[in-house]
Order: sequence, then structure tokens, then C-alpha cells
Amino acid sequence: MAEGLNSIKNFHVEILLHTNSLLNRIDAIARVANFLSSKEALGKEKVITKFDDDSLSEHIKSISIYENSSKTLNGEFPETRYYLYTFNSSAPEIEETEDEQQISTQWILPTQEFHGLWDSLIYDSEVKDELLNYVGTALDFSDKSVDPTIVSWNRIVLLHGPPGTGKTSLCKALAQKICIRCSSKFSYGQLIEVNTHSLFSKWFSESGKLVTRMFKGILNLVEDPNVLVIVLLDEVETLARSRTSALCGNEPSDALRVVNALLTHLDMIKRYPNVLILTTSNITDAIDVALIDRADIKQYIGLPSVEAIYQIYCTCIIELQQTGIICTREILLPLHRLRISPESQPSDPILSNSRCLKLKAIAEKSVGLSGRTLRKMPFIACALFIKTKLISLDVFLDALSEAVEKHWKDVKHLKVHV
Ligand SMILES: Nc1ncnc2c1ncn2[C@@H]1O[C@H](COP(=O)(O)OP(=O)(O)OP(=O)(O)O)[C@@H](O)[C@H]1O
Ligand SMILES: [Mg+2]
Repeated sequence: MAEGLNSIKNFHVEILLHTNSLLNRIDAIARVANFLSSKEALGKEKVITKFDDDSLSEHIKSISIYENSSKTLNGEFPETRYYLYTFNSSAPEIEETEDEQQISTQWILPTQEFHGLWDSLIYDSEVKDELLNYVGTALDFSDKSVDPTIVSWNRIVLLHGPPGTGKTSLCKALAQKICIRCSSKFSYGQLIEVNTHSLFSKWFSESGKLVTRMFKGILNLVEDPNVLVIVLLDEVETLARSRTSALCGNEPSDALRVVNALLTHLDMIKRYPNVLILTTSNITDAIDVALIDRADIKQYIGLPSVEAIYQIYCTCIIELQQTGIICTREILLPLHRLRISPESQPSDPILSNSRCLKLKAIAEKSVGLSGRTLRKMPFIACALFIKTKLISLDVFLDALSEAVEKHWKDVKHLKVHV
């Protein structure tokens, strides 16, 4: 039975307006609610970009619907919530030192550049929902003026794990997502990605001063309560190198100054309710324990499982089908709906069980690859292992399988040489 959105309730609905749309909030929500109430049952996540009705398409670029398994950013468990936003069109700003070293890149959010990033990241655990819940709770505690000397939180998140598992992308996607979901609370968001490497000045003793200068700039922004400021310290081990190991290095005093300056400024900035510090690392052993201790969440981001790999490959295949590179339009079932027995092939040739099983086998031999490598595999498959002009899904899957085998062989040779 077809079930409209209103009868299911409990969704987050993000409405992206055209930049030139003058539609007001109440009108936009009423139109979208009406449109969705006539839609068939909605899956876990859905993005709608095509509308039959002109009164919608002239104002609305896309509607993204997410099942609400988490709290809102006000800390409540609500029924369907609507969020309206448009992209900020300004280009990212780059801050440089006098000797033209890039210190930071700043984006006004939401921006087109990070559109779709959140949905493209696929994890086995509920890590994305948990991060949203964390931010929701932090904002709620600030709103309700919870005394941080009694219940403390530092507004610092650390994502750690092997290279290429999406840590940096997840931080950027989270920043964008928070700004969309908090659009009624803040006028806009500002993401500051700090180039941690450049803060180590070639004039060693200057590094501590550079950290201080950078945080002064951040403090100026945070003074405006209408702006949500998100600071991304990527590869934070560069800055927060463990003081114990720094003491054994060549420039111990400089390294110590940087860690000390960083910790002092983080302690200062946490007093502001409109700031969030996102940090990433793939060498947690090297990070100063005092920084690790300050992080409210120390989330491990690991390599994808067979299920996640299968899903990542499916998204690549859909993209190649939509762009016409794969010329056949078979639909691959999600792994949990896959029938294992080859006799139970669905009669519909479009829902191809045998190809799903083939893809599952490729996913199984891809275990151990990072998300970054997985997303490159379809390209390698097309570049190196396809000789025909018309690429059917079958031809593509054979090539993908070969690409994965080649990758493992290449890695083995690399290890032999090292
Ligand atoms: N879990 C995932 N799901 C989908 N895509 C992923 C996943 N993990 C990584 N990717 C892809 O890999 C690309 C690189 O990810 P990213 O640079 O964010 O990883 P990282 O963990 O920060 O790596 P590093 O530790 O080397 O800095 C992303 O743009 C994304 O396309
Ligand atoms: Mg990274």
C-alpha cells in the first residue's frame, strides 16, 4: 500500500531553494509537505530533484529526506522537521603568511562544493547519526546554560583511523549538515580548515606566534553569536605532537610552544556556544595526551566492511549508468535483500540477482581497501581492463574484478621493494 510521508512522520526534510527564489518559509514547507504526502513510501534516505509541478521546480532545487533516528539539533525527538537553505555563492577565502604559506581556507556554509558529500560517505556503524547527536546535545546544553564547570564538554571531536577512510570528508560534510539543520538558529556557518603543516614556520620560534595569530582570527569570528564557527584541524598530530616525543626531537622548544599555545587557545575558545573544533589524525600515538583527553568524542573510522564496500560500488555503478558510461540499466539490489541461491533469480531481468552475487564476490575480495581506493577502482577498471566501446554491466563487473586483483598484486610488489 502506498504510504505518504505524513502517515510515517519522523523525517528530516532538507529543502534546497534556488538562490533567486523568494518563496517564504511557511509557503515552502506547505508546498513540500503537500507534495510529499502524495509520494509513495519513502526509503531510508531519498533525494528528489525532479518535480512535475512548476510551482515547485521554479523555487526548489532538491528535497532530501532522512529517516529520523536521531535527535534534532535542539536535543528533542521530533516529528517531521523541515529545513530551508540556499547555497552561499562566495568562493573560499585563503589566508596566507607574509611568506605566502597558506594558513587556512575558509568557506561560508552551506556551499555547493560540499553538496552530496554527506550522502556519499558510507559507514557500517551509526557514526554519522552519532556525530549529529553529539552536536545537537552540545548546542542544547549551551542553550539551557548547563554549567560547564559541573557538566563539562569541550566542543572537540577527534576522528582517527587509517588513511583514506573519509575522516576529512566527514568533517566537511558534518560542518555543512549542521549549518543546514541549524539554519533557523544561525545566519550562516563558517568552516575554517587550518593548514596545520604551514603553522610550523621555517623560523622555528615563530610557530607558537602563528598559532596565536590564527586563534585570534577565529576568536573575532566567534564573537558574533549569529555565526556558527567550525574549525577543522586536519592531521592534528602535526600540531599537537606529543610533548614527550617533542623533547627527543631537534627543535623541542618550538614543538612545546606550539602544543602549549594550541591547548591554551582551545581552552579559551570552548567558552563560546557557537564553536565546534573537528580534528582528524591517522597517527594517534603521536598526539599529545592532553589534546586527546580534551576531545569529547574520539571516534575510530575504520576500513569498510563487505556490506559498505558493496554499497560504495553500487553508488559508483549508478553514477556510471546515469552518465551513460555503462550502457545497461540493471538495478542492483542492496546486499541484505540479495538471494543467495542462484535458482532464486528474480524473474525481472532488471533486478539481476546473478550480477549482485558477482558484485558481492568482488566486494569480498576488496576487503582491506580504503574508501579512497574503492572509489578509484571503477576508473581503473574502465581505463585498463575494458576494450569494448559499449560497456554492459557484465563487462564492467569483470573489469572491476580484474582491477581489484591488479591492485593487490601491485601492493605486494610495493611491499617487496620497500
Ligand atoms: N566510508 C566511505 N564511504 C564512501 N567514500 C569514502 C569513504 N571513505 C573514503 N571515501 C572516499 O575517499 C575520499 C578520501 O577521503 P578523505 O580524504 O576524507 O580520507 P581521510 O580519512 O581524511 O584520509 P587521510 O587519513 O589520508 O587524510 C573521499 O573523498 C571519499 O570519496
Ligand atoms: Mg584527511
